[in-house]
Amino acid sequence: MIQRAGLDIEVTAGFDRESAISGADFVITQFRVGGLAARAQDERIPLKYDIIGQETTGPGGFAKALRTIPVAIDIARDVERLAPNAWIINFTNPAGIVTEAITRYTSAPCIGLCNVPMSMQRMIAAGLGTDPRAVKVEFVGLNHLSWVRRVTVDGEDVTRAILAHDLVKREFERAAGAYGPEVPGLLQALGMIPSYYLRYYYFHNSMVEEEKRHVREGRGTRAEQVMAVEKELFKRYADPGLSEKPAELSQRGGAWYSEAALACISAIYNDRDEVHVLNVPSRGAVPDLPDDAVVETNCLVNGTGVHPVAQGPLPDSIRGLVQHVKAYERLTVEAAVKGDRDIAYLALLSHPLVPDACTARSLLEDILCANARYLPGFGRASRDTW
Ligand code: G6P
Repeated sequence: MIQRAGLDIEVTAGFDRESAISGADFVITQFRVGGLAARAQDERIPLKYDIIGQETTGPGGFAKALRTIPVAIDIARDVERLAPNAWIINFTNPAGIVTEAITRYTSAPCIGLCNVPMSMQRMIAAGLGTDPRAVKVEFVGLNHLSWVRRVTVDGEDVTRAILAHDLVKREFERAAGAYGPEVPGLLQALGMIPSYYLRYYYFHNSMVEEEKRHVREGRGTRAEQVMAVEKELFKRYADPGLSEKPAELSQRGGAWYSEAALACISAIYNDRDEVHVLNVPSRGAVPDLPDDAVVETNCLVNGTGVHPVAQGPLPDSIRGLVQHVKAYERLTVEAAVKGDRDIAYLALLSHPLVPDACTARSLLEDILCANARYLPGFGRASRDTW
């Protein structure tokens, strides 16, 4: 592909992490502990309790975080030692939580990156029929829990027009399933555009019903669908003559990740003074959260680093949810780092989609049992011990 594009880029592949990291300027991390099989479990376990089974949101994201954080911290420790001037660009999900673990527990500078902000900006630009570069979008919140507060084109505020735009409404109506008719009123009342991951909160029951229906009908959860796509995709990649992105790739999420990452890297490396939407410690930008809490918001990026833009207090309509989810995230990080069951239990209990203590206890047991080989720090997971 690189040859066909006529680019002067050398790619090397290998399994030696130390030599890959040594002397790097940027270390991009994207990995899935336990592979898609573990993701399928993450998606199925919460459904037993009528809670959304999702890769990053809710108990599924919690399980993924427990598996991932120890590995992410290990990599960050290698970066501290072998590439002390490098930035870690973390794609690994749940990206906000993993980034918070790295930034709180290591000294490696780390930026969390997601494709959602760039995808939303492009959707808005398509709605306006404008070049995405002309559209300025102000984001606030957490990774996979963010809202667009303001959209401007050439300095003119077009937020209200966008909220009423068919494209935005349709995107959410599709996501809301049976609750679709609620969407226009929700958007108008909020006065902000929620990222599509907010559907798991605003339309939770509908999403659970839809997921359960997919499983009943034999379509499986998202991980199981993705496994089928990958089978085809890897057959295509096995052909050394392949020189274009295979069409099957469009069936996967994650569009625009590479653009978002390279734009951020270039802004740092070339000292560009650009604004990008990134996941970094708030340091006062969102005063409703602790300074070391990782937030997803607009940041000024240049050779000196990444500086979140001050957002002022969150509106009442979203403050509670953001603080609630952040409390869950912080407890999850602590539980993963310490391998502590009590803190893990409190993390689940603190999640807005977990209804009560018995459910939190049962979920934790299921998750620890299903993931025992990835979570040695938590000791033996057995129902008898409770
Ligand atoms: C979206 C999210 C990503 C996530 C991806 C999953 O793009 O923003 O964080 O990794 O979906 O896509 P998949 O094809 O694996 O369901």
